[in-house]
Amino acid sequence: MSTTAAKIVRFYNPGAPDVLKMEDIEVGPPKAGEVQVEHKAIGLNYIEVYWRTGVYPQPLPCCPGTEGAGIVRAVGEGVTDLKVGDRVAYGSGPVGSYSTVRNMPAHPLMKIPDSIDFETAAAMMLKGFTAQYLLRRVYKVQAGETILFHAAAGGVGTIATQWAKSLGVRVIGTVSTREKAELAKANGCAEVIITSEENIVDRVKELTDGKGVPVVYDSVGKATFMDSLNCLKPRGMMVSFGNASGKVDPVPLQWLAERGSLVLTRPTVASFTVDKAEMLESAAEMFGVVASGAVKIQINQRFALADVVKAHTELEGRRTTGCTVLIP
Ligand SMILES: NC(=O)c1ccc[n+]([C@@H]2O[C@H](COP(=O)([O-])OP(=O)(O)OC[C@H]3O[C@@H](n4cnc5c(N)ncnc54)[C@H](OP(=O)(O)O)[C@@H]3O)[C@@H](O)[C@H]2O)c1
Repeated sequence: MSTTAAKIVRFYNPGAPDVLKMEDIEVGPPKAGEVQVEHKAIGLNYIEVYWRTGVYPQPLPCCPGTEGAGIVRAVGEGVTDLKVGDRVAYGSGPVGSYSTVRNMPAHPLMKIPDSIDFETAAAMMLKGFTAQYLLRRVYKVQAGETILFHAAAGGVGTIATQWAKSLGVRVIGTVSTREKAELAKANGCAEVIITSEENIVDRVKELTDGKGVPVVYDSVGKATFMDSLNCLKPRGMMVSFGNASGKVDPVPLQWLAERGSLVLTRPTVASFTVDKAEMLESAAEMFGVVASGAVKIQINQRFALADVVKAHTELEGRRTTGCTVLIP
């Protein structure tokens, strides 16, 4: 097999969105255990902002992205579960989805059900896996519970809040604006706290008769960490899974004791997608809630891959809602 002409977005040094450059490359045939995927849609995720800005340093140059959907164009030696022409998607694995064509290990790839189109698949894989492990594995939410979920109008937020509601959970969401509050309510949040106008802890205490919540899902990080801890019931769980506002400072263990034997975890999607059987189980649940209509994947922004600088500017500027896809 000869090489294939492809476009790839890379950055050579961390920085502002305009460090992202589109380049022409030639992609060789897939190696043993690899698959060549022609992307039809690529999911945009906040982690790519951390990579681009150097918050999570990456080997350079870096082609970001770990979420995409497309068609198998070639398979390397030893790949038996996928064939040329298969419709596939992934939400984990090595970086490199900001490209028209890429070779990647077969492990994270899974076939997409016929009912799910490429854009939806590209938007939902990483975010859906994340919602799944947060609600179903890290802290298994129960019907009747009240939980706090930050950034409720974002990509992970819109998926997780709909999912939690479908499980009978009462979700308190946080957002920064009134417009986003409307969206969060439409996505199943029973209550929404507008962080630019309201005190998070006071509102959560008010909404829970002073008791607090058994779990907080916090991807905002530095700006909300202390408030999140202070919203928990004794023996509650603080799930800190992102840092859109900055990295959380080191936490004295004593803070957990003082608030009543709290549990603190800092999970990553990578550790929940290592095992293929576990990943397939998560994917089946995720495709199931989308197929049943319990969770609607809302693609509220679409950008050409060539407009990736604009896409990053909007995401980092808090001007996106729901999911965003890049179209090669
Ligand atoms: N650990 C994991 O496994 C894992 C996996 C996926 C995603 N994540 C994390 O989950 C979060 C959501 O990811 P996403 O891709 O779906 O992004 P997103 O929620 O669509 O966008 C991030 C949101 O964070 C909120 N935010 C609060 N303070 C911010 C600030 N100072 N700057 C920018 N945004 C701020 C904004 O919502 P408001 O304006 O409403 O506040 C913004 O829309 C990210 O922190 C991401 O890193 C973690």
